[in-house]
Amino acid sequence: MYKRKDYFYKKAKEEGFRSRAAYKLIEIQKKYKIFKKGDYVLDLGCAPGGWIQVVLKFIGKDGRIKGIDLLDVKPFKEENVEIIKGDIYEYNFENEKFDVIISDMAPNTSGIKHADYYRSFELCEYAFKIAQNCLKNNGNLVMKIFQGKEFNELRGVLKKNFKEVSVFKPKSSRSSSVETYIVCKGKSL
Ligand SMILES: C[S@@+](CC[C@H](N)C(=O)[O-])C[C@H]1O[C@@H](n2cnc3c(N)ncnc32)[C@H](O)[C@@H]1O
Repeated sequence: MYKRKDYFYKKAKEEGFRSRAAYKLIEIQKKYKIFKKGDYVLDLGCAPGGWIQVVLKFIGKDGRIKGIDLLDVKPFKEENVEIIKGDIYEYNFENEKFDVIISDMAPNTSGIKHADYYRSFELCEYAFKIAQNCLKNNGNLVMKIFQGKEFNELRGVLKKNFKEVSVFKPKSSRSSSVETYIVCKGKSL
């Protein structure tokens, strides 16, 4: 476990990524082709900004990304990045339409397994609610989730709203971690 952590941690440092999480999104894009040039992307829980760095490469100069986090994010020099410091439960995205919504949000873990799983599920449920209002028809949604017992219920709901729903555990995610990613392609109205 620590070897793997060290490997991706060091690799991120060497390659100038702000987080080792960057590699998870690279794997997701390689397998599922979530982003295309020119996309407008919403990144929920974006700090410190590793996913933003990666998304910028996928969407190119004509794309745009908006990120939100409770924490401060070191500013980006790129003009097509907008960062909001705030809580997703309080921010209003209603007037916007995104091509892709991604969420790497995780609750602060309490050590009480069921409580942590449930809070992860709640974050996903809310991210899905944002997607229902603000994701374009045929848009894509990627969310991190801890696989608790609520997971299957949520997956069932997502299957009714997207053409393709897959569960993916990137190699760059620690094998000891309960996190997994749910990749939803092609929102149907
Ligand atoms: C694993 S980190 C994201 C890493 C990011 N994908 C990257 O590559 O740099 C999860 C983030 O979710 C944020 N978060 C958790 N709950 C949130 C909420 N309610 N609103 C906004 N951000 C939240 C945390 O502050 C934390 O920075």
